[in-house]
Amino acid sequence: MPSVAEVSNSTHNPKLHSKPFFNDSSSRRQKILQQRKSLPIASVEKRLVEEVRKNDILIIVGETGSGKTTQLPQFLFHAGFCRGGKLIGVTQPRRVAAVTVAKRVAEESGVELGQRVGYSIRFDDRTSTSTRIKYMTDGLLLREALLDPYLSRYSVIIVDEAHERTVHTDVLLGLLKKVQNARSKSADGHSNGNNKNADSDMILDRENDTNGINTLKQCQGRKFPPLKLIIMSASLDARGFSEYFGCAKAVHVQGRQFPVEILYTLYPEPDFLDATLITIFQVHLDEAPGDILVFLTGQEEIESVERLVQERLLQLPEASRKLVTVPIFSSLPSEQQMKVFAPAAAGFRKVILATNIAETSVTIPGIKYVIDPGFVKARSYDPVKGMESLIVVPISKAQALQRSGRAGREGPGRCFRLYPENEFDKLEDSTKPEIKRCNLSNVILQLKALGVDDIIGFDFMEKPSRASIIKSLEQLFLLGALTDDCKLSDPVGHQMARLPLDPIYSKALIVAGQFNCLEEMLITVAMLSVESIFFAPREKLEEARNAMKSFASPDGDHLTLINVYRASDEFLEKRKMEISKEKTEKIRRKWCKDNFINSRSLRHAQDIHSQIRGHVEQMGFRISSCGEDMIMFRRCLAASFFLNAALKQPEGTYRALASGQVVQIHPSSVLFRAKPECIVFNELIQTNHKYIRNITRIDYLWLTELAPQYYTMQN
Ligand code: CDP
Ligand code: MG
Repeated sequence: MPSVAEVSNSTHNPKLHSKPFFNDSSSRRQKILQQRKSLPIASVEKRLVEEVRKNDILIIVGETGSGKTTQLPQFLFHAGFCRGGKLIGVTQPRRVAAVTVAKRVAEESGVELGQRVGYSIRFDDRTSTSTRIKYMTDGLLLREALLDPYLSRYSVIIVDEAHERTVHTDVLLGLLKKVQNARSKSADGHSNGNNKNADSDMILDRENDTNGINTLKQCQGRKFPPLKLIIMSASLDARGFSEYFGCAKAVHVQGRQFPVEILYTLYPEPDFLDATLITIFQVHLDEAPGDILVFLTGQEEIESVERLVQERLLQLPEASRKLVTVPIFSSLPSEQQMKVFAPAAAGFRKVILATNIAETSVTIPGIKYVIDPGFVKARSYDPVKGMESLIVVPISKAQALQRSGRAGREGPGRCFRLYPENEFDKLEDSTKPEIKRCNLSNVILQLKALGVDDIIGFDFMEKPSRASIIKSLEQLFLLGALTDDCKLSDPVGHQMARLPLDPIYSKALIVAGQFNCLEEMLITVAMLSVESIFFAPREKLEEARNAMKSFASPDGDHLTLINVYRASDEFLEKRKMEISKEKTEKIRRKWCKDNFINSRSLRHAQDIHSQIRGHVEQMGFRISSCGEDMIMFRRCLAASFFLNAALKQPEGTYRALASGQVVQIHPSSVLFRAKPECIVFNELIQTNHKYIRNITRIDYLWLTELAPQYYTMQN
């Protein structure tokens, strides 16, 4: 692979384009300019732009932090790739990355976010008609393809972080291959309607505009300029991508990496959170200045480490307390995400508590120490049982290397791996693509909506197993999304494809719409879309339990979540008249704290609620409430979550009806003690036990009445 850094000539003076900043922060502006100039990618701007001009598909690999995500789109913008009002789209697997990078690039370009530079993620759109560089999640671009099958607004699409191989990235790669093909044909003067038999034109063959999704008739005969496709990856092995795109050209942007000393533990750690905490304080008290990056598995864990660090700090002498914690995870409210990039106050050390988002997606300056317990939360799917679950698994070698690399961006660093060295040797080389370990019903729904009917024959970079495709097809059929001949059903299938939700949640909204409890279901789906509404600190377990009791519904967790949501609304509604906006926020947070509610999660759920509400209103659903009739609401849950029904067994465990698995109610459920005969649940968590969470009591007979397509078949 040619290395751009090597072949670039040293006389090329990187030209960084910038407008004078319109406010007084010129020293910050100077600093940013300086930072940009010193990025490895800055010296190869011209060469990269040339490569993009020459190649319709280009693969760019480069170490994390070399400037790919923030700089390349700006280079292309200034090289004229947005002429005629076209867009440069940059997809990210993670919401946080799309948001933080867009903010950074807007700042670098001296423009307001949402103007020339913007982002769009599910439930949050910050773009306008003047946007030319658009950061977005890969899932969002897939949704856009439903409305604009040629992605005609884009002149360039950059698929970033492709090494992550999320399920959306993989589907997107397949789709973009088709779109590019179709667009180059249209540019050659082919009429798009004439290629009915060509597989690559499958997405162009849709004619029925049943739900306002398809606009192909309008596209026919129109000409589109060719689409430039750039695949960016932090993993140095570009072979897979190159082969998939017919031996596409790959170039390497050299990064800058200082040595990182790797330290292992002598023995396996029985409690990795405890080991993490000890290591944080060892570094803080014994090591030279420099920030710490800790890799944890999720929001809940991050927040509990955050609390523990703060508690322990209070036990230290005043002079040793100069440590601040900053969390970063995907569902963190957008205004808080940027905090990780701000330097700590003078004399303070920053400890960033992150999910694997900080592996490659976001580059945080100032890190000298990395603490890596070696785990990640990942999706796992059992196609035989049809169950998807989130499990905490060991990371791969590639991930461990990426993580330690974060310590050596700006100078020599140290990485503390909280496991023995021989454990490292046992790790898998690289992570298995997500498409091989997740439920595919969402993917299938989207592909079907895009006109791809033959899912098994679709040109995936790596094919998911036939068994999991078939299982997911079956699930969609049972939910009523597919007809007997495996087409999207009308209207349910089309409605489900339009909603940016898991098909089961979309089904719940559709059913609730028919039975007058859409208001309740919207709250439920929003609350289920966030992690951990309740929090129970170890030292206040009793108080937290009592607080939860005041919201608890004897019918289960879904109604309990509705109670929390409404209680918070009512509390604020009463005080709205009295006080200012800032005060409201303060009071809201205090209310959450007093009630042991996670205020970040609740706020996120409220945002999601208003967004989904917008979607269903647009789709013409009438939003009404079932009032006191909670039986109706529970029947709706049964009618949509019937694939996750479970029956109590004599010894108090449950048997999941669809999979036959023996599961237990999670201790955090309000039904943990009540143990009703028959339940539906939303989530399966596998630790030492198989726990189910978010549970509602239902009547066994409802299953045969409301889901006869499944329960008579199974008897
Ligand atoms: O994509 P790649 O990992 O190659 O690098 P990048 O994300 O473009 O980041 C390049 C540099 O921009 C980083 O080293 C950070 O110093 C800086 N950056 C930042 O300060 N704030 C952000 N939100 C994003 C990047
Ligand atoms: Mg990047």
